[in-house]
Amino acid sequence: MAIRNIRVIGDSVLKKAAKPVKEVDERLLVLINDMLDTLYHAEGVGLAAPQIGVLKRLVVIDVSEEGNSPIILINPEILETSGEQTGDEGCLSVPGKVGTVTRPDYVKIKAYNTNMEEFIVEGTQLLARALCHEIDHLNGELYVDKAIGGIRDAAENEEVGE
Ligand code: NI
Repeated sequence: MAIRNIRVIGDSVLKKAAKPVKEVDERLLVLINDMLDTLYHAEGVGLAAPQIGVLKRLVVIDVSEEGNSPIILINPEILETSGEQTGDEGCLSVPGKVGTVTRPDYVKIKAYNTNMEEFIVEGTQLLARALCHEIDHLNGELYVDKAIGGIRDAAENEEVGE
Protein backbone atom coordinates (compact mmCIF):
# COMPACT_ATOMS: atom_id res chain seq x y z
CA MET A 1 0.00 0.00 0.00
CA ALA A 2 1.30 3.35 -0.97
CA ILE A 3 -0.31 6.73 -0.92
CA ARG A 4 0.92 8.94 -3.72
CA ASN A 5 1.22 12.68 -3.64
CA ILE A 6 -1.76 14.39 -5.30
CA ARG A 7 -0.74 17.18 -7.65
CA VAL A 8 -2.64 20.42 -7.21
CA ILE A 9 -3.81 23.12 -9.57
CA GLY A 10 -0.89 25.08 -10.95
CA ASP A 11 1.12 21.91 -11.57
CA SER A 12 1.66 21.70 -15.33
CA VAL A 13 1.10 17.92 -15.39
CA LEU A 14 -2.62 18.54 -14.84
CA LYS A 15 -2.83 20.41 -18.15
CA LYS A 16 -1.30 17.67 -20.28
CA ALA A 17 -3.10 15.00 -22.25
CA ALA A 18 -2.40 11.48 -20.99
CA LYS A 19 -1.25 8.63 -23.25
CA PRO A 20 -3.12 5.35 -23.79
CA VAL A 21 -2.10 2.35 -21.70
CA LYS A 22 -0.62 -0.30 -24.00
CA GLU A 23 -0.28 -3.23 -21.64
CA VAL A 24 -1.10 -4.16 -18.07
CA ASP A 25 2.13 -5.23 -16.42
CA GLU A 26 3.16 -5.58 -12.79
CA ARG A 27 4.07 -1.91 -12.61
CA LEU A 28 0.66 -0.83 -13.83
CA LEU A 29 -1.05 -3.06 -11.27
CA VAL A 30 1.02 -1.44 -8.52
CA LEU A 31 0.05 1.96 -9.89
CA ILE A 32 -3.66 1.01 -9.84
CA ASN A 33 -3.41 -0.19 -6.24
CA ASP A 34 -1.62 2.99 -5.24
CA MET A 35 -4.31 5.06 -6.95
CA LEU A 36 -7.01 3.24 -4.98
CA ASP A 37 -5.09 3.71 -1.72
CA THR A 38 -4.66 7.38 -2.54
CA LEU A 39 -8.33 7.81 -3.48
CA TYR A 40 -9.63 6.20 -0.29
CA HIS A 41 -7.09 7.98 1.89
CA ALA A 42 -8.21 11.32 0.43
CA GLU A 43 -11.87 10.27 0.74
CA GLY A 44 -12.44 11.14 -2.88
CA VAL A 45 -14.89 9.87 -5.45
CA GLY A 46 -12.45 9.52 -8.31
CA LEU A 47 -8.81 9.88 -9.24
CA ALA A 48 -7.10 10.04 -12.61
CA ALA A 49 -3.46 9.03 -13.08
CA PRO A 50 -2.31 12.55 -14.10
CA GLN A 51 -3.38 13.72 -10.64
CA ILE A 52 -0.49 11.71 -9.21
CA GLY A 53 1.83 12.83 -11.98
CA VAL A 54 1.46 9.81 -14.28
CA LEU A 55 0.38 10.68 -17.82
CA LYS A 56 -1.51 7.48 -18.55
CA ARG A 57 -5.18 7.07 -19.47
CA LEU A 58 -6.15 5.39 -16.23
CA VAL A 59 -8.94 6.29 -13.80
CA VAL A 60 -10.31 4.90 -10.55
CA ILE A 61 -13.78 5.81 -9.32
CA ASP A 62 -15.83 4.78 -6.31
CA VAL A 63 -19.16 6.48 -5.78
CA SER A 64 -20.37 4.05 -3.11
CA GLU A 65 -21.04 5.26 0.45
CA GLU A 66 -18.98 2.42 1.89
CA GLY A 67 -16.02 2.94 -0.42
CA ASN A 68 -15.89 -0.71 -1.41
CA SER A 69 -16.96 -0.66 -5.05
CA PRO A 70 -14.03 0.58 -7.10
CA ILE A 71 -14.33 0.92 -10.85
CA ILE A 72 -10.99 0.75 -12.68
CA LEU A 73 -11.02 2.24 -16.14
CA ILE A 74 -8.15 1.81 -18.57
CA ASN A 75 -8.29 3.94 -21.73
CA PRO A 76 -11.88 5.06 -21.10
CA GLU A 77 -13.81 6.60 -23.96
CA ILE A 78 -17.22 8.25 -23.93
CA LEU A 79 -19.59 6.54 -26.36
CA GLU A 80 -22.82 8.31 -25.55
CA THR A 81 -24.20 11.05 -23.35
CA SER A 82 -27.67 12.39 -22.74
CA GLY A 83 -29.54 14.76 -20.50
CA GLU A 84 -28.11 17.42 -18.27
CA GLN A 85 -27.42 17.90 -14.57
CA THR A 86 -26.15 21.03 -12.89
CA GLY A 87 -24.56 20.66 -9.49
CA ASP A 88 -21.55 21.19 -7.30
CA GLU A 89 -18.30 19.49 -8.06
CA GLY A 90 -14.91 19.40 -6.41
CA CYS A 91 -11.53 17.93 -7.20
CA LEU A 92 -8.75 16.43 -5.08
CA SER A 93 -6.38 18.60 -7.14
CA VAL A 94 -8.26 21.75 -6.15
CA PRO A 95 -8.49 21.30 -2.38
CA GLY A 96 -11.09 23.17 -0.36
CA LYS A 97 -12.97 24.48 -3.38
CA VAL A 98 -16.18 23.67 -5.21
CA GLY A 99 -17.86 24.93 -8.32
CA THR A 100 -21.13 24.45 -10.12
CA VAL A 101 -20.78 22.48 -13.33
CA THR A 102 -23.29 21.27 -15.89
CA ARG A 103 -22.66 17.70 -17.03
CA PRO A 104 -24.62 15.06 -18.91
CA ASP A 105 -27.02 13.13 -16.70
CA TYR A 106 -26.23 9.87 -18.46
CA VAL A 107 -22.98 8.63 -19.93
CA LYS A 108 -21.98 5.39 -21.57
CA ILE A 109 -18.29 4.58 -21.50
CA LYS A 110 -16.11 1.98 -23.12
CA ALA A 111 -12.96 1.02 -21.22
CA TYR A 112 -10.60 -1.89 -20.59
CA ASN A 113 -10.18 -3.85 -17.38
CA THR A 114 -6.90 -5.13 -15.94
CA ASN A 115 -7.09 -8.15 -18.28
CA MET A 116 -7.32 -5.67 -21.16
CA GLU A 117 -10.85 -6.84 -21.90
CA GLU A 118 -13.25 -4.24 -23.16
CA PHE A 119 -16.27 -3.45 -21.03
CA ILE A 120 -19.07 -0.92 -20.87
CA VAL A 121 -20.00 1.32 -17.96
CA GLU A 122 -23.21 3.28 -17.85
CA GLY A 123 -23.70 5.96 -15.24
CA THR A 124 -26.28 8.47 -14.19
CA GLN A 125 -26.16 11.30 -11.64
CA LEU A 126 -22.96 11.21 -9.51
CA LEU A 127 -21.36 8.40 -11.51
CA ALA A 128 -22.05 10.22 -14.79
CA ARG A 129 -20.51 13.36 -13.31
CA ALA A 130 -17.47 11.49 -11.99
CA LEU A 131 -16.88 9.71 -15.31
CA CYS A 132 -16.92 13.01 -17.21
CA HIS A 133 -14.75 14.74 -14.61
CA GLU A 134 -12.09 12.00 -14.63
CA ILE A 135 -11.97 11.69 -18.42
CA ASP A 136 -11.47 15.46 -18.56
CA HIS A 137 -8.37 14.95 -16.38
CA LEU A 138 -7.00 12.56 -19.02
CA ASN A 139 -7.38 15.38 -21.54
CA GLY A 140 -5.66 17.93 -19.34
CA GLU A 141 -8.89 19.67 -18.37
CA LEU A 142 -9.97 20.79 -14.91
CA TYR A 143 -13.53 21.48 -13.79
CA VAL A 144 -12.55 24.99 -12.71
CA ASP A 145 -12.64 26.06 -16.35
CA LYS A 146 -16.24 24.82 -16.66
CA ALA A 147 -17.55 26.11 -13.34
CA ILE A 148 -20.43 28.52 -13.76
CA GLY A 149 -19.37 31.76 -12.07
CA GLY A 150 -16.01 30.25 -11.05
CA ILE A 151 -15.02 28.30 -7.96
CA ARG A 152 -15.68 29.12 -4.31
CA ASP A 153 -14.59 27.92 -0.89
CA ALA A 154 -16.23 24.65 0.10
CA ALA A 155 -18.35 24.64 3.23
CA GLU A 156 -16.98 22.50 6.04
CA ASN A 157 -19.43 19.67 5.42
CA GLU A 158 -18.94 19.83 1.68
CA GLU A 159 -16.18 17.52 0.59
CA VAL A 160 -16.44 16.47 -2.97
CA GLY A 161 -13.24 15.11 -4.39
CA GLU A 162 -12.77 13.81 -7.89
NI1 NI B 1 -10.52 16.01 -10.24
